Parts: sequence; structure tokens; C-alpha cells
Amino acid sequence: MKQKTTFICQNCGFHSPKWLGRCLNCGEWNTLIEEVEELVTAEYSFPASEPLLYEEIKEARRQRIKTKIEELNRVLGGGVVLGSLVLIGGEPGIGKSTLLLQVSGDFANQGEKVLYVSGEESLEQIKIRGERLGLRDGNLYLLAETNLERIIAQAEKLSPQVFVLDSIQTVFSSKLSSSPGTISQVREVANQVFRFSKRNGVSSFLIGHITKEGSLAGPKSLEHMVDVVLYFEGERDHAYRVLRALKNRFGPVSELAIFEMGRGGLKAISNPSAFFLKERPVEETGSVVVCTIKGSRPLLAEIQALVSATLFSGNPRRMTVGLDHFRASMLLAIVERKLGYSFAGEDIYLNVAGGLLIDEPAGDLGVILAVVSCLKNKAMPPDVSVFGEVGLSGEIRSVNQPLARLKEAHSMGFKRIILPEGNLSHLEKKDIPDINLMGVKNIKQALNIIF
Ligand code: TYD
Ligand code: MG
Repeated sequence: MKQKTTFICQNCGFHSPKWLGRCLNCGEWNTLIEEVEELVTAEYSFPASEPLLYEEIKEARRQRIKTKIEELNRVLGGGVVLGSLVLIGGEPGIGKSTLLLQVSGDFANQGEKVLYVSGEESLEQIKIRGERLGLRDGNLYLLAETNLERIIAQAEKLSPQVFVLDSIQTVFSSKLSSSPGTISQVREVANQVFRFSKRNGVSSFLIGHITKEGSLAGPKSLEHMVDVVLYFEGERDHAYRVLRALKNRFGPVSELAIFEMGRGGLKAISNPSAFFLKERPVEETGSVVVCTIKGSRPLLAEIQALVSATLFSGNPRRMTVGLDHFRASMLLAIVERKLGYSFAGEDIYLNVAGGLLIDEPAGDLGVILAVVSCLKNKAMPPDVSVFGEVGLSGEIRSVNQPLARLKEAHSMGFKRIILPEGNLSHLEKKDIPDINLMGVKNIKQALNIIF
């Protein structure tokens, strides 16, 4: 019998009977790969369930196990829920294997039985990494294997409490004939691990590689199948890494934890503000500290601006790192129009120090002050921190969570805060820490206070 084949987009999972250069669904180029169409029969391995009366259902208190890394527990919503399936995605080399080996060692130390399966590295390679991380003895089992059915069989036999699969792209099911890493394989792997997890109440972690361009045989297509999706990201040239929750059935999303990659593996940074400000130049022009929010956590960051004359009458450059380019252009237009500067013939560079990304409007006022500080050649007073959204007519608009921002700035030793008047008038006096607050309605007022 002739096997039927179909073309599947590796980015979004779209099926097409014939090859296409560009996916009709997601518009990506060269993502369709021929795969054999399989008839996977559903397995009814769960015990059949009966309807239950609402009041007879026991209170849903999910049991969790905690890692020693408090920051990771927080991102997970207070530890790993027993029997949950967590997907950790990130670019190759970012530190996924390192993080999960550390976590595995941690669990094993607490007496949990852990199975760490690698389809990428040999046992010796993993052991070398473990030595580097200072892993101690415990109930940690390693398995180097790429066949999914064998992996599941071993896992069933060992019956661990925690199961790690590194990575989903290197493992294949012999039920399917397509190669490892294709959409159908990746889905089948996730599916089988999901069922294994739920059947035995095992907390499982799946590692998935993601490339900058999006997703190579997309872990994205798995997001709906798993309980928790974490993304591990960072700049290659910086030591810091951010772990974010994108989806969490058992906790809040948009939580994040910051780690530093060092010689002994990943170390959680419990005071990120200090980390991002530690090399701040004091009394330098063009540098402003803003109170921003990342996930649910306030964070102080330094915005830097540099304005310099364009050489050779070329087009002036507008470069931004760590800020939205369009938003920055808009803020520069506001400075020109409302404050009477002209940037014709000037190159402008904007940067957030430490490789951090500020993606909320509360950073606007900081950007404007940094640019003006540079233009006037006057430094910001070192004890001032700012936040506020700037509108097109130069008005300063309120932002969310002002109190959290103030408290963070206070705890980092800042004495004066410039903030939106609208936020100031809504704050309860008794909640405010001992810090000098200056509410402003527009950018001119802010400049008068500072310069
Ligand atoms: P790894 O966990 O292998 O990345 P991934 O699994 O996401 O592909 O981490 C790879 C990088 O981390 C590698 O460049 C080496 C570095 N590293 C350290 O800096 N310190 C360490 O202790 C370890 C184990 C790795
Ligand atoms: Mg790895």
C-alpha cells in the first residue's frame, strides 16, 4: 500500500496536500516539510471517570514540591505541581540543560527520585556538567536515550517523582516514521510524556529549543498541550538570564526570575535592581534611573542617551537597544516639538544598561530626561529616580503600580522620585515610604525640577 504523505508547516502545524514555498496559514517561508500521514489511534489508558456532584469533590489543594531556587518556585507559582507538565523553551546555549540539571540535583537532595533523560549528551558529558555545578549524591538517575517508547518504559519501571526530558527535538517515537524534531514527532513526544505524567502523578519537564527566528519545529505548537510554559532568554554577551512564565495553569503568568550564569552554573539574583545598577556612572550626563515593572516585580534600570553630530552629512542615526524603536522615535519627536530642540544632523543612541528590555510606557519620562541631560550636558542628581508615561502633547500620564515602584526606589537608597501628578494624588499618605515625591503634569515641569 502506498503511504500517504502530507506537507506540514514546522512553524504552525498547518497541513497541505502539496508543497508550498510559503505557508498559507502563518506566512513563513520554507517551513513545509513532507511527513508521512499517520493514523494514531487514541489510547484510553486513563481509568474511565464518573460524573461527581460538585459538593462531593474534595477541595482542590494541589500538592507542590519546591526547589531550593526560590526564584524558580515563584515563577512556577510556588513550586512544581505534582503531576504537571512544564515546557522550558529557549535558544540553544542559553542554559536550559544547566538549569534543569541543577533543579534535578536539588530535588534529588530533598529525597525525591529524579530521572533525567538526555537525547543530546552522553552520561559522561552530563556528569562533567554536574561536577561543575557541584551536584551531590542523591536519588538522581541519568539516561542517555532517544527512543521515546524505551524512555517511557524505563520511566515506568523506575517510577520517579520528577522526570526531565532534554530535549524534545532529539527524541522520537517509533510509532511515527517522520524524523525527530518534526512537528508530528514533537507533538507525539509531548503527548506521551503528558499521559505518563498524569497517569503516575509525576512532575515532568520538557526542554525545547527555540531559535531567534521563532521556532524550529515549534515548541510553540505544544503550548496548548502542557500545563506550564517557561521561556528562558537573555543576551549572549551578558551573563544574566531571564526566566518567564508564559502560561501557567497553576499560578500567575508574566512572573519572572533573573539568573546569572557563572562558573558554578546559574545563580538566582534576588535583588535585580542592585544588579542592573551596579556599574552606573554617577554624575554622568545622559544617564537616568527609571522604576520599571517586570512581571509583577519592580525593578530599577538605567536608561542612557548619547547625542552626537552626524558625520559626513549622512542620514542621522536613531539607534535603540532595550527600548521599543517606534516609541523612542515618538519620544524624540516630542522633545523636538515641545522643548524646541532640533535633532537634524544629530545621531541619537538610546540604551538600557545591562541588556535589559523596558517594554512599558512608564519608561518614557526616563528616556526624555536622558536625552535632555545629554543635550544640556548636565548630569541628573544621583539620588533621583523617575517614572511616567509621556503623551504626544508632552503631558505626563499615570502608570500602574506606583507604590511598588516607589518602594523599590526607596529600598535602593533613592531620596527623590519624579512621578506623574495623577499617581501622586491617588496615593495614600500612610503607605508612602520616607521619600521625597515630586508630581509632575508635563515634561517641562520635570525638566524645571531637575535642571
Ligand atoms: P546549556 O545548559 O548547555 O545550554 P542549553 O541546554 O540551553 O543549550 O548551557 C550552555 C552554556 O552555559 C555554555 O556556553 C556554558 C555555560 N555554562 C557556564 O557558564 N557555567 C556553568 O556552570 C555551566 C554548566 C555552563
Ligand atoms: Mg542543552
